[in-house]
Amino acid sequence: NPTSIRDRSIVLVGLMGSGKSTVGRRLAGRLGMRFADADDEIERAAGMTIADIFERFGEAHFRDGERRVIARMLAGKPMVLATGGGAFINPDTRALILRDSLCIWLDADIATLVERVGRRSHRPLLKNRDPAEVLRELAAVRNPIYAEAHLRISSASTPHDHTVRAILEALS
Ligand code: S3P
Repeated sequence: NPTSIRDRSIVLVGLMGSGKSTVGRRLAGRLGMRFADADDEIERAAGMTIADIFERFGEAHFRDGERRVIARMLAGKPMVLATGGGAFINPDTRALILRDSLCIWLDADIATLVERVGRRSHRPLLKNRDPAEVLRELAAVRNPIYAEAHLRISSASTPHDHTVRAILEALS
C-alpha cells in the first residue's frame, strides 16, 4: 500500500485567529479524516471552559492538561487536530507534535488576527487587554517557535477555503 498523507495526523498550530479550527475542520472534510479541536477536548475532559480553567487553576495547569489531551489524540487513529495557540510553545507538547504528526503553522499578519479574534474575546489571554498589543507581543515570542513546524502556510487576509486549498496543494 502506498503511504498516504492520511497515514499521519495533521496538526495545525499558530496564533489565536489564524484559522486553525475552521481550516482544520474543512481540511479534514476534504481529506475524509476525523477532526478535533484540542481546546474543545480539554473543555470536555475538564467539564469547564478554558477561561474558567485559567482563572481557577492557572495557565501552567491548563498547559499540562493540554499536553495530555494532545498526546491522547495523537496516539489514536490519524486525524486533523487544531491546537490552541500556546500548545506548540510548550516544549514537551511541541516535541510530541513534531514526532507524531505532520505539523502546519498557519501564519497571518497582526491586522488579520485582530480582525478575526474580534473586539470582545472569550480568550483569557485577551481579557481586558488590547488584542493588537497582545498579539504583537505573542507573535514576537512565538513566531520563531512556530517556524519549527514542518510546513508554513499563510492564512493572512484570505478566505479560509484558500488556505485549505494551499495546504492540499502543498501536500500533493
Ligand atoms: C491560547 C490560545 C487559545 C486557548 C487559550 C490559550 C494561547 O486557543 O488555547 O486561550 O496561548 O495562544 P486559540 O488559539 O484557539 O484561540
